[in-house]
Amino acid sequence: MTILVTGGTGTLGRLVVPQLTAAGYDVRVLSRRGGVDAAGVEHVRGDLLTADGLDLAGIDTVVHLAGGAKGDALAARNLAAAAAAAGVRHLVHISVIGADTMPIGYFREKLGAEEAVRASGVPWTILRAAQFNSLTYAVTQKMGRLPVVPVPGGLRFQPVDERDVADRIAELALGEPAGAVPDLAGPTVYSMRELVDSYLHNQGKRRPHLPIRLPGKVGRAYRTAENLTLTGATTGNRTWENYLTENTPR
Ligand SMILES: NC(=O)c1ccc[n+]([C@@H]2O[C@H](COP(=O)([O-])OP(=O)(O)OC[C@H]3O[C@@H](n4cnc5c(N)ncnc54)[C@H](OP(=O)(O)O)[C@@H]3O)[C@@H](O)[C@H]2O)c1
Repeated sequence: MTILVTGGTGTLGRLVVPQLTAAGYDVRVLSRRGGVDAAGVEHVRGDLLTADGLDLAGIDTVVHLAGGAKGDALAARNLAAAAAAAGVRHLVHISVIGADTMPIGYFREKLGAEEAVRASGVPWTILRAAQFNSLTYAVTQKMGRLPVVPVPGGLRFQPVDERDVADRIAELALGEPAGAVPDLAGPTVYSMRELVDSYLHNQGKRRPHLPIRLPGKVGRAYRTAENLTLTGATTGNRTWENYLTENTPR
């Protein structure tokens, strides 16, 4: 049986693909730039936004991990239509916690993508995850480069390690369609200040802080924790502290 992994060359995708081949499946990876084939892994080029290269003949399960800053709803609609036409048995989709509540374009696109998956007619599984440790790291790294670090008050995050997300996605892909499964977040909730300070500490740096207030409905949504699932989420095992240690400059 062949599993199609869209975005199998990305941060999450490249952690999922080896788990599927290790379970004995052939994997086809779809991305715009492609990649190098390996045992059990075939790369195809395609663009979900234009539906170019979207041939799903012979695919049993689709694991939809491709995503970008813009257009995720359209990408998912194109994929869902192709999956339905090809008689795909299971469509697994990664989404983000806050997809239905955060007043930000990216989150709205993720909700649109979820809606496309639900309406596809293909049996589906959707997992919403928190921000990955790698993304949190990149954000704190950017903030830590500033001479004075602006720290928006009231913002909290529960970063999850992408390896924990990959483990869960692989488990879901190898199981039966399960609908909307419990959200997956990291083991600890941190303020923005705690995240930046822990990053700076790890780098052996100190910076003065400038407390700021994020304005408007976006600020309000973050302050009321619309970006978090504080009850009912599954939590990953790997911690932010561990991730920092792994990325300690030597
Ligand atoms: N990062 C996070 O914190 C986070 C949290 C929750 C959920 N998610 C979701 O998890 C998914 C994966 O995130 P990631 O961080 O692994 O992303 P990533 O590292 O940016 O990888 C994106 C992947 O999608 C492919 N891709 C992008 N646009 C495409 C298109 N139009 N057609 C075909 N392939 C396309 C990319 O390859 P090419 O560029 O070669 O096309 C790449 O393989 C996304 O849907 C994201 O929204 C991410």
